[in-house]
Amino acid sequence: MTFKDYQQLVAQLNCWSHAYHVLDAPLISDSEYDATFQELRTIEKQHPTWIVSESPTQRVGDIVSSVFRKIPHEIKMLSLENAFSLEETNAFFLRAAKSLVDLEDFEKLDNLLADTTIKKAQELKSEFKALATSQLFETLPIFSEPKLDGFAISLHYENGILIYGATRGDGEIGEDVTHTIKTIQSIPLKLQTDTPPEILEVRGEVFMTKAVFEQLNQSENVRSFVNPRNAAAGTIRQLNPQAAMERPLQFIPYGMGAYSDEREFTRHAEILSYFGEIGFKTNQNCRAFLASETAFEQDYQRMEALRDSLPMEIDGIVYKIDDLNLQEKLGFIARSPKWAVARKFPAQVMTTTLLDVDFQVGRTGVLTPVARLEPVFVGGVTVSNATLHNMDEIGRLKLCIGDKVQIHRAGDVIPKVVKVVSEGEIRRAIVMPAHCPVCESEVIKTVNEIVYKNKPSKKITTYHCSGGYFCAAQIVERIKYYASRNCLNIRQLGAKLVEVLCEQGVLNNVADIYRLQIADIANLEGQGEKNAAKILAAIEASKHTKFSTFLTALGISEVGESGAKNLARHFKTLDKLRAADEEALVQVPDVGAVTAHNVRTFFDDTAQNQLVDDLLCAGVFWDENENESIENKQSLSGQTWVLTGTLSLPRNEIKAKLERLGAKVSGAVSAKTTYVLAGEAAGSKLTEAQKLGIKIINEAQFLELTQ
Ligand code: IVH
Repeated sequence: MTFKDYQQLVAQLNCWSHAYHVLDAPLISDSEYDATFQELRTIEKQHPTWIVSESPTQRVGDIVSSVFRKIPHEIKMLSLENAFSLEETNAFFLRAAKSLVDLEDFEKLDNLLADTTIKKAQELKSEFKALATSQLFETLPIFSEPKLDGFAISLHYENGILIYGATRGDGEIGEDVTHTIKTIQSIPLKLQTDTPPEILEVRGEVFMTKAVFEQLNQSENVRSFVNPRNAAAGTIRQLNPQAAMERPLQFIPYGMGAYSDEREFTRHAEILSYFGEIGFKTNQNCRAFLASETAFEQDYQRMEALRDSLPMEIDGIVYKIDDLNLQEKLGFIARSPKWAVARKFPAQVMTTTLLDVDFQVGRTGVLTPVARLEPVFVGGVTVSNATLHNMDEIGRLKLCIGDKVQIHRAGDVIPKVVKVVSEGEIRRAIVMPAHCPVCESEVIKTVNEIVYKNKPSKKITTYHCSGGYFCAAQIVERIKYYASRNCLNIRQLGAKLVEVLCEQGVLNNVADIYRLQIADIANLEGQGEKNAAKILAAIEASKHTKFSTFLTALGISEVGESGAKNLARHFKTLDKLRAADEEALVQVPDVGAVTAHNVRTFFDDTAQNQLVDDLLCAGVFWDENENESIENKQSLSGQTWVLTGTLSLPRNEIKAKLERLGAKVSGAVSAKTTYVLAGEAAGSKLTEAQKLGIKIINEAQFLELTQ
């Protein structure tokens, strides 16, 4: 037995495993596979130095002991906007077509119209744009894929070898779950190609088939999972890979993250078939067609008819613009692309009785009515609460306590009361309390008018607790929000724990998080010293944040994630933001008078200002030079860069920066290369670039270009 024989044996086993797990076409019997696998084990015992990372014996490693390692995603992991009807789907792609039309240069048209009167010219121009939009819409190439109901994962391969697998996390930073990912047999440990890309990130969904879920549900220990998606997510987040191995999951890719290779793709469909070629299972039942209302409807009906017969749960269809060039032009907003949408299957419907209505006090003091229902089983879970949105909604529904109501539940969305089915025998009116149910401060009613461009304006009545930052409910919600995923993302400090700590009087404001001691947590039920130490470590780690994240986490009314990013980008430092008056604030993109006023009021409030200082004193910090990622302003979009020679900045840093700005980084020079960034002692790539007449720049020029 030589090392070469050993390698061949590994390749043979991987080939059989691929045939079985990916192609569903076994080449040999299970017992033959097992016998060869044992043979491999024996050889590896005799020659431990031979073991290669793609050996099937390497799928189950050691138990990971602590919190998962954080992994930044070089390319953000996006989510999808939802469409719940044909109209919404159509409207989404019409908006995409409109954006593409708006990106066009209308100089010629402007010249043509120069002679006509200005008003007429403007009218003609918008007429023309509308026509161009509807025409462009019909040429959009759409790729339709089943929307797998599982858990998003990014697999990072370097030169064909699986290096790590990460969860999506907040989209920018995920968690290292390589140990459980490796147990998934349909994920190749080594890509099946002789010419692997230098870097390839394969993104897709990990899921559990319906059959496996049902089987597992028979056994005692997994009863707690309500559906296959939760079971998949729970399995991936196991510390023990052996346990993951026992709950077989599958993986199907749907997109690409970081990538550097010569091979170029022009269509999304090509990427998916490339994934098939290099050893992945592919999403079946995909279709390509041109955008039209009829095509979307037909495709939806096709998938709806297929749904029950599929081996895995799907919760809708994903429609993507297949042309990568158009995808790049459209870009994304906040967390979802402007070129893809999820058409969700309709909500599941059930009837039950409205037992009571409670009023929940939110982070900003708004009181929301919540329906307490007679428990009912809808779409795999028992529902006993549902949102009622606001008092206007209750009026519109003509709802009273005691009525029989219809409940809708769609995916992860909070269940909703949609209508009264029949009035109850004994009915009780739903009344907004005069005082906050938590702090007893007076409840204040406000009527706001929302003015729309094309439809009649709407009046919305809101009620809020006047207790402000002294209301215990608002404090709890603010602390939960501060620690939540889109803010400081202190996963270990979940909503339940915050509630308990607030109840015990340990947490009285956001800054108290950083004053927590082991004993505060260790003595709580179900915690213990070890857990408490983990939580404190996570809190400590959260101190290093980004300016925009910190701003989001402060929870200033109307300042969400994207508003905070705009403010951070504009003012750059907290001092400058604190000093800005309303006039300066409205200069920030997308910041209107209301938001500007809220920001000013927040920093003018002594208690709030003190809280900000307390957080900084507690050690919360960020790097002021760190670029806030500039979404949709990808100034290098469409460019291809090649790096060569010795550079003073780390290569992955340069690469990440270029990719953030929309450029592709390739490993080889070709006619398509836009720039070659050449450092000291550059070799053949530099010569090749000179031969092809490609622009060559040095590091100083690179910095200037990417500022
Ligand atoms: S594409 C930039 N395709 O659904 C586009 N997502 O609700 C990223 N999902 O985060 C997503 N099947 O985890 C895409 N065929 C599919 C999908 C799919 C399931 C998941 C994915 C995504 C979530 C959004």
